[in-house]
Amino acid sequence: MNTISLIENYESGESLPQAFYTDKEIFEMDMKHIWQRYWLFAGVTADIPKKGDYFTYKVHHDSIIIIRDDQGGVTAHYNTCRHRGSLICTKEQGNAPKLMCPYHQWVYNKDGSLLKARHMPDDFDKSEFDLHPVHVRIVEGLIFISLADSPPDFEPVQAGFGPFLKPFKIPSAKVAAKKRYVLRTNWKLITENFRECYHCGAAHPEYCRAVVGANMKESADEELLQKQVEWSAKGLATKGIDFVDDSFHFAVRYPLRSHVESYSLDGKAVSVPMGDHQDYDAGVLGLVCYPNFWIDAVSDYVWTMRITPVSASKCYVDLSWLVDENAVEGKDYDVERLIEFWKVTGEQDWELCENNYSGIESSRYQPGPYAPSELDVVKFVDWYMGRLKEGIGG
Ligand code: FES
Ligand SMILES: [Fe+2]
Repeated sequence: MNTISLIENYESGESLPQAFYTDKEIFEMDMKHIWQRYWLFAGVTADIPKKGDYFTYKVHHDSIIIIRDDQGGVTAHYNTCRHRGSLICTKEQGNAPKLMCPYHQWVYNKDGSLLKARHMPDDFDKSEFDLHPVHVRIVEGLIFISLADSPPDFEPVQAGFGPFLKPFKIPSAKVAAKKRYVLRTNWKLITENFRECYHCGAAHPEYCRAVVGANMKESADEELLQKQVEWSAKGLATKGIDFVDDSFHFAVRYPLRSHVESYSLDGKAVSVPMGDHQDYDAGVLGLVCYPNFWIDAVSDYVWTMRITPVSASKCYVDLSWLVDENAVEGKDYDVERLIEFWKVTGEQDWELCENNYSGIESSRYQPGPYAPSELDVVKFVDWYMGRLKEGIGG
C-alpha cells in the first residue's frame, strides 16, 4: 500500500502500521507536517541568563540559534550564514557578544541583523542579509519555537500553562542537572509511552509507590477531589486541560500518596519548596505540548523533557531538572538524589520504547488494539494522523 492509502485507511483505535514508525518517507512527512509546523519546546530561559548566552537546537536539517538579546528578551534565528550558508554557531551552547560566522567572518547582531561583511562592494546592502528569524514564545520561562511561516495559535497554550507554572518561578530557577539519552526508537513511541499508565504497574514500581492509582489497582478519584479543594485554597491551578479537537496541549495536577513529598526513591523531599510553594503538597503537575514537550513538576523541582527525532529509528531525549533559585547544592539538594527518580523511571521507559521499536520492525508485526486505558494514546495517534491528512490535503 502506498503512503497516501496507508494514511487514508488507518483505523482509529489500533497501533499504527509499521511504516509510520520505520519508513523514511513517512518520517519526512512527520518533519514537514508536524515538526516544521508546530511549536517545539527548545529549553528554558534559565539556560541563557546573560546577554549573548545562546544555545543551538537542531531539528531535522535546521539548526536554530536561541539567544538572549540586548534587551533581555530571547530571539531565535536559523543557524545558516547569509553569505554562503555556513553554520555560525558550531557549539551547542556558549556566549557571544556578536554572532560571527567562522568561514569569512560575517558578523551578526544578536537580533540577527547583519553588522559587518568584510570586503564586500560599496553598494552591498547589509539590510537585505539578516539571519532568517524563527518564531519564539516564552511561557513562564519555557522557550517554545516554531519553524513555520505561520505557526498555529499559541495563545491557548500560553493562557492554559501560565497559571500552572507561575508558582514555580521558572524564569529565575536554577538548572541543577541535565541528561541526554540517545534512543533507538521512533519519536511517536515515546509519546505513546508517556500517554498511558497501562504499563506502569509492571514497569515502574518506584513510580507506583509515589502516585495513587498509577498501578490501575486503586482509584485516585476521592483523593483527587479532596486535594483539589486544598490546592485551590492555596491558589494552585487545578482545572486540567484535555486535548480537544485539534488542540496540542494538555495539563493535569494529580496527588502523590499521602506520605510522599516528592518524586524521589524514598518519597522524601529532595530540595526546598520551589518558587512560591510553601510546603511539599502541590502533588504532581503534568504538562504536555505536542510534539516534543513534557513536564512533571513536584513541589520541590521541575523535570522537563524535550524529544528530538533524528531519523525514523533514532531520537534524542533531553532532560533538565530545575530547582528553586536559592537552593544550594550540597545543602538543600544533592544532584544524585534529585535525578534518581527520573533516572530510574525514565530508563525503564527508554528500554520499553526501544523494545517496542525493535518488535515493530518484525516482518510479522501488525497493528494491535489499544486498551481502554490507552485512550490518551488513541487521542495522540488520531491527532498525528489528522496532521498528516491535513498535510496531504485530505
Ligand atoms: S559563509 Fe559565513 S561568512 Fe562566508
Ligand atoms: Fe512509563
